[in-house]
Formats: sequence, C-alpha cells, structure tokens
Amino acid sequence: EKTVGIIGAMEVEVTNLIAALENHTAETIAGMEFHCGTLDGTPAVIALCGIGKVNAGMAATLIVDHFGATHVVNTGVAGTLSDQVGIGDFVVSTGAGYHDFDVSPLGFRYGEVPYTKLCVFPNDEAMRAVAVDVISAGGYKVHEGIVASGDQFIGSAGQKQDILKHLDGMCCEMEGAAISHVCYLMGVPCLVVRAISDGANEQSIDDFPAWCAKMGAASADMVRQMLPRF
Ligand code: ADE
Repeated sequence: EKTVGIIGAMEVEVTNLIAALENHTAETIAGMEFHCGTLDGTPAVIALCGIGKVNAGMAATLIVDHFGATHVVNTGVAGTLSDQVGIGDFVVSTGAGYHDFDVSPLGFRYGEVPYTKLCVFPNDEAMRAVAVDVISAGGYKVHEGIVASGDQFIGSAGQKQDILKHLDGMCCEMEGAAISHVCYLMGVPCLVVRAISDGANEQSIDDFPAWCAKMGAASADMVRQMLPRF
C-alpha cells in the first residue's frame, strides 16, 4: 500500500501538515520528529528534519526504511537561481544535485558523486506531472528544473554565479539533493517541491523571513493536495 513520506527542514514547512494528520502518532529518532497518520485519507509520514544535507539524508533513510514510505516528497522554500523564476513561484524538480560536492582532483566532474556517475539525481516524472497540475491549478507559476543543494545559505550574487558555473540549477536550497540521492539508492520515487522565498542574493536576508513563512505554508498546502494522486 501507498505511504507518502513528506520531509521538511523547518517547522513552517510542515506544521500545517502535521496539524491535519488524522490518527496522529509521533516518534522521535535521534532527535528527529516523525509524525504518522493519514492526510485526507492517504497514509503519510511527515518528518521535520532540520537544516542541511546530513539531516535530510537521515530523514529520507528513516522515512523509507523505518516508516515504510513508498513515495517521498521534499517540501519547502528555496532561493531562485533564474531570472525566469520569481519570489512566490514554485519549482518542481526534474532532478537534484549538490553544488558543494567536488572530487574533481581525482578526475570526476565537479558535482559528480563517485561511482554513481551522476551529478544530478533524477526525480519521478509521474509525481512531477501531478505537482505541476496541482500547483498551476492553485494559481501559482510553476517551473520544472534542477534543484541545487548545498550546506550554505546563498545570499550573494557571487555565490549564485559560482553555483551556475557547474550546475544548471533553477533554485537553491539545502536538502533536496540529499533526499533525492537516498531515494535513488533505495529505488523509491521522489520529488522536490520548492516555493521561492528569496533571490539568493544580497536582498535575501530581508526577503527570507516573511516569504519563508508564507511560501513554506503554501508549498505544504500544494503537497497536501497532491497526495491522493501519487
Ligand atoms: N532556502 C531558501 N532560500 C535559500 C537560500 N537563499 N539559500 C539556501 N537555502 C535557501
């Protein structure tokens, strides 16, 4: 049977989903909160994973291996890397890659994870099609592209340019590629849904707080509407 795993890094990104769970049970593993139940009738597990790639990788591993998720969605906010993608828009992932992973001195491409031969972990096309449908019906602009992840908040034009030298990312955040990597290894379909909270530039520190609250909740709401169709 289908169980959808939903992973968010910050409380604002998952709190409305947790509040909507029926038959809610909670379990904390290694300090990480997991909430189980049904969401509008769909069995779901929601993780509040904390910031960054290791937290995200641990959440993805546990949500699949311990909680039995058959599908995984990462919901949250991101900074835009494209002039075509504005604050308030959504990005759904074709795939996700690390912008801070470099084994190039040993002959690998920048960003390539040795032995996987991949710089970008592909995401699930059927889940993406559902996401595009739901988000556009919700009245938002939705873009399909690569999500760039790293253990850095991007807050300058220089950092943004550095990412784009190596990776054709549409938005930047800190978890999506780790979750996509784990799901790729485990053979579980995965999607990253990100609402844009800031420009990943010098204005980010001003834009992020308010837009993060608004769009973190919007992303969760869109993901909730997708669940029955995964
Ligand atoms: N999440 C939201 N905005 C971000 C940014 N500018 N950098 C990294 N993660 C983010």
